Amino acid sequence: MRRPLVAGNWKMHGTRASVAELIEGLTRQAFADDVDVVVFPTLLHLTQAVAALDGSVVAVGAQNCAAQAEQGALTGEVAAQQLVDAGVRYVLIGHSERRSLLAESDALLVRKFAVARDAGLVPVLCVGETLAEREAGQTFAVVKAQVAAVIDALGVDAFVGGVIAYEPVWAIGTGLTATPEQAQAVHAAIREQLAVCSAQVAQQARILYGGSVKAASAAELFGMPDIDGGLVGGASLNADEFGAICRAAGN
Ligand code: 13P
Repeated sequence: MRRPLVAGNWKMHGTRASVAELIEGLTRQAFADDVDVVVFPTLLHLTQAVAALDGSVVAVGAQNCAAQAEQGALTGEVAAQQLVDAGVRYVLIGHSERRSLLAESDALLVRKFAVARDAGLVPVLCVGETLAEREAGQTFAVVKAQVAAVIDALGVDAFVGGVIAYEPVWAIGTGLTATPEQAQAVHAAIREQLAVCSAQVAQQARILYGGSVKAASAAELFGMPDIDGGLVGGASLNADEFGAICRAAGN
């Protein structure tokens, strides 16, 4: 049985004061014992979050890391090993906003995925199609290619203990959620893609759904057989709403 994971991506939101308030709200939530929970603050707020969540069940992740493994001359970047040193446990790789707005390629993301793993972080590979791609019937091909980039370069074992987040671009921040059936179909296809290489890896890899997840829609999505939790944007900025989404992932 895969352990559900609910992740809150805070994106480029927050001040020291609002982060403190949000974390205060999180520490008041009743989280189920059988669900993993992680929040992804901005880089600036990582150490604040790690310190404030020390001893809580909520882990902390980063929204990005450098593609270069070692510390060194790379102005403005942060190495995966520096994130580990700061108490960070997860890292998002290839969020659609970074793929589209910052032109991150599959080749670059594969390098980030590898250095993150090697440093001991849990990489969360984000994949998903745009509306135009869905309307053109390319959903499965697009998602498959994004997952294949990692498998082809690093082998399927790169997903041992790893996480994939399916986030249809058209559902991110739009209030449009994929139906549980639409999401399940893509999740099942991803798991099948992994299974072709390794049944064992496919069985244990956690595949999260992201895209306008709210407390009201979470239980139905998480009830699908191949949806192992969620990657939540906007709704994760409200501690009570996020807490409710996390509880919906429990058994
Ligand atoms: P929303 O939940 O705001 O749609 O964002 C989803 C997302 O991009 C999480 O990474």
